[in-house]
Amino acid sequence: MNNWNPSSWRDFPIKQQPTYSDLEKLAKVEKELCSYPPLIFAGEARNLKAKLADVVNGNAFLLQGGDCAESFDAFNANNIKDLFKVMMQMAVVLTFSGGCPVVKVGRVAGQFAKPRSADFEEINGIALPSYRGDIVNAVGFDEKSRMPKPKKLLKAYNQSASTLNLLRAFARGGLADLNQVHSWNLDFVKDNALGAKYEDLASKISETLAFMKACGITSGNTDQLSHTTLYTSHEALLLNYEEALTRQDSLTGDYYDCSAHMLWIGDRTRDLDGAHIEYFRGIKNPIGCKVGPSMKEDELIELIDALNPENEAGRLNLIVRMGHDKVADLFPKLLRRVKAEGKNIAWSCDPMHGNVEKAPNGYKTRDFANILSEVKQFFQIHKAEGTVAGGIHLEMTGQNVTECTGSTSSAITADGLASRYHTQCDPRLNADQALELAFMIADTLKEARS
Ligand code: PEP
Ligand code: CO
Repeated sequence: MNNWNPSSWRDFPIKQQPTYSDLEKLAKVEKELCSYPPLIFAGEARNLKAKLADVVNGNAFLLQGGDCAESFDAFNANNIKDLFKVMMQMAVVLTFSGGCPVVKVGRVAGQFAKPRSADFEEINGIALPSYRGDIVNAVGFDEKSRMPKPKKLLKAYNQSASTLNLLRAFARGGLADLNQVHSWNLDFVKDNALGAKYEDLASKISETLAFMKACGITSGNTDQLSHTTLYTSHEALLLNYEEALTRQDSLTGDYYDCSAHMLWIGDRTRDLDGAHIEYFRGIKNPIGCKVGPSMKEDELIELIDALNPENEAGRLNLIVRMGHDKVADLFPKLLRRVKAEGKNIAWSCDPMHGNVEKAPNGYKTRDFANILSEVKQFFQIHKAEGTVAGGIHLEMTGQNVTECTGSTSSAITADGLASRYHTQCDPRLNADQALELAFMIADTLKEARS
């Protein structure tokens, strides 16, 4: 790897970074982080890469989801558990109804740093630095909260470590056992039509498990029935943090970013000659890159060549986030070009970030119909081009929030947004809406496979 090292990004122009006033303190924190244990190990990142290679070939489906931004305040076991349950529910719907193995990747245990549309936020004539995620500053609109503090990197690391610890326990300690399929249905989902649809499917799975048990296959003797793997991911935006968790693998000598299994580059920091591309080209994890409306065909090919020069299947996930009203116009020509050049890509659809709107009462929201529409169009475009719609990338939570409007099961209106609007940043799907989307995708996958 020519002239690359974990800190070579520092010689490149960088966007979307905080301005720290105490650089000495920052250096001290970075040094401390460098001495901490990695959160994941290289072998796990390689396993995920192999799974994503299956996604490229249409032999698996990528389900990636979690908060827009994790928060220090909302950090508790229930939130983690409920996200885990919804991911399991969605995965089981996609596997059972869609007939497709699911690669589960949380936007969790490190999703703290946020790009913002402006460096400053102004309210009533007062301008303060924008909130950039809990790893940088705090959301409150006062000078003290908005001051970037290096120590928050350590708090983000510690929260990520505890979150990952609990997720690993859930994945292997009983909660992921397929015999728990009924218990994944969250209380507020149970009572509506969607909850009932899920219960129906769960009962079919239970019957199948009873049949298998009679044949001698049980979760006691078959790991696949009792265990799962939930990988972690986040936007590697704050490179001071990512660099400090970059470690050389003793087996291969390669560098891995050990803050998460998979990292992605945001739509606002993917400049070809920028610091983020420089950092990403040197780490061997599977990586993602957002593809928004401004992406040009030549630029995309250059980006792919920079990030995946060996054209390795499973290395690169392109996350398309055009918006429901633009995807049909903008995506097909990019897809055709990438196909013509023979690039191995795991394509997924982020139907969230191109569909943000402001409700009349001022709430930042997304309409479920627009989200569904972008996903449907994404599948149709791939079908027309003979390529693989490999996955979905969502901002979602297991909590019963009211942040996105619409959906058939929980008809949240613009006026209803105020009742449980808790996000730190962008509006998330609640468990109902996420499950409804999973059923829709399962139908589409089934159709594509029949
Ligand atoms: C995000 O995924 O939270 C995000 C900021 O997305 P994008 O880079 O696509 O705008
Ligand atoms: Co977001």
